[in-house]
Amino acid sequence: MKNNLKDTITESMVVTGICLAAFYWICESFMYFFLEPEANIFQIFLGPDLFQIWTRVLVLCIFAIFGSHVQYTYNKRREADSELRESSEKYRTILESIEEGYFETDLNGNLTFTNDPFCKILGYPRNQLLGMNTREYTTPDTAEKISRIMGQVKQTRRPEDVPDYDVIRKNGRKAVLELSISLLTEKNGKPAGFRGMLRDATRRKETEEQKRLLETQLQQAQKMESIGTLAGGIAHDFNNILMGIQGNATLMQLKIESEHPNYEKIKNIEKFVLNGTELTKQLLGFARRGKYLVKITDLNDVIEKSSSLFARTKKEIQVHTDLHGEIWAAEVDSGQIEQALLNLYVNAWQAMPEGGDLYLKTRNILLDGSYVKPFKVEPGKYVEISVSDTGVGMDRETRKRIFEPFFTTKEMGRGTGLGLASVYGIIKSHGGYIDVTSEKEKGTTFTIYLPASEKKVVREKAVPTEMLRGSGTILLIDDEKMILDVGCELLEELGYTVLSALSGREALDIFQKNSDKIDLIIMDMIMPGMGGGETFDRLRNINPNIKVLLSSGYSVNGQASKILRRGCDGFIQKPFNLNQLAEKIGKIMGKR
Ligand SMILES: Nc1ncnc2c1ncn2[C@@H]1O[C@H](COP(=O)(O)OP(=O)(O)OP(=O)(O)O)[C@@H](O)[C@H]1O
Ligand SMILES: [Mg+2]
Repeated sequence: MKNNLKDTITESMVVTGICLAAFYWICESFMYFFLEPEANIFQIFLGPDLFQIWTRVLVLCIFAIFGSHVQYTYNKRREADSELRESSEKYRTILESIEEGYFETDLNGNLTFTNDPFCKILGYPRNQLLGMNTREYTTPDTAEKISRIMGQVKQTRRPEDVPDYDVIRKNGRKAVLELSISLLTEKNGKPAGFRGMLRDATRRKETEEQKRLLETQLQQAQKMESIGTLAGGIAHDFNNILMGIQGNATLMQLKIESEHPNYEKIKNIEKFVLNGTELTKQLLGFARRGKYLVKITDLNDVIEKSSSLFARTKKEIQVHTDLHGEIWAAEVDSGQIEQALLNLYVNAWQAMPEGGDLYLKTRNILLDGSYVKPFKVEPGKYVEISVSDTGVGMDRETRKRIFEPFFTTKEMGRGTGLGLASVYGIIKSHGGYIDVTSEKEKGTTFTIYLPASEKKVVREKAVPTEMLRGSGTILLIDDEKMILDVGCELLEELGYTVLSALSGREALDIFQKNSDKIDLIIMDMIMPGMGGGETFDRLRNINPNIKVLLSSGYSVNGQASKILRRGCDGFIQKPFNLNQLAEKIGKIMGKR
């Protein structure tokens, strides 16, 4: 109001000046009228003489000029004031709308100005912050660092970045921030204080942390990959050797009576071969190379089968099952899943030396993207299997390393450290993942997630166990002479006539000549030159109805499943014994 009146007066200074001059003119005219009543109208209004007229015009001009000068100067000042107000308003809006906290301090570090984000970051109201020293809201380390940096900035006059600026919020919580600090100067260049810009460094830290984690994960994956390749290679060669030992032992056993003093020794050899086979199975599982026979499976069946076998042998463990009645089907190699579960049961048993409880539970679960992301699997429907024990549990350090191959806390000779590495490999190769929760003395829970399938479960009939003999001609293909010799003899023992080939090419020649005679082909999968896959296709080209049994100790990237999908009739894992071989052949030849 007061300002408005002032503005109106100053804006009309020219008019006011002219009015005052006119008032003076009129007063002069009146005075002259009273002093000289005889004067005429022109003399009264303009003045009696030229000098009087000039004086009046001069006064008029002086008032008008003075008025317009006052008005002009005032307008200029007002414009400058409003520009200043506008620019400081803009500056304020910018400072308040940025995410960063802005502050100014005096040379001792006492706050003289803050923006809203700064108050928000620290959690104090502005009036409490103003006057506060930087030491009061920073950690002792940061306070010391910052006073050093302030001295440096004052000296060099160059801004500095402080990447780890740790503050303590009003609620007592610590926050990690980034600070850029620079010098504030007076007009004459004398240092007046400091200005700083604060940024929340949590996100940067998280990104850095994520990057670091990804790098270690990658390194770990590469390490696992190369150990996996090595393990797979060893398993392959080892299985062939075991096959030779197993075959020879079986042949010897067939030739001697059970009373023979060496009969038990041969049985022992077979037992050792079995132990060896267990080891190569673990290696193959870990190398993710053991997945052969993928079928639509009811995982409850696999759990029931494996757990009842386990419960029978480990009486000191109480097994409790809680299996979902309508569990979704899953496409798995049930032999492999069984092996993974058995590894978990054995670990649980070893963790409960005085006995205890083992809880097995299944349920259907829908996992969304955010949940499965860290495990690098697809979101969707999963079957969850949890295996919990009431054993000794694990501390954090052990828990972090349990899936590493050869990591064991067991004494020498008791554990190879391959059990969980194998479980991990098996579950991964099925497109699932495994998680663990455990605390020292509080038991352990392993939770497996396997992708569910929309397809219906196909149940196979149980097979009787007595050995099946047969007749007919079999073509045996293997690049290892030792396997070929043992294989031929085993098959002959079963009553078959055998033709043998050391390579895919040789097999094709033999088959071409004898295709009407041969009833079944048993074929190795990994062979130099023409591999199992190509040999299979070419054999089928010659006779599309020929029955083929695939045999291997190893699989490269699901090669076995690929050949099986192309119509191969069966698969047998090396090393196998006479019973297993007889059974497979019988099944394919349609005897069972
Ligand atoms: N259920 C469990 N409770 C407590 N610790 C466990 C459990 N399962 C595994 N662990 C820990 O994880 C380690 C690695 O297990 P993993 O099965 O891979 O090897 P292992 O059992 O030591 O040897 P292997 O299985 O080859 O005989 C174990 O040595 C043990 O310390
Ligand atoms: Mg184990």
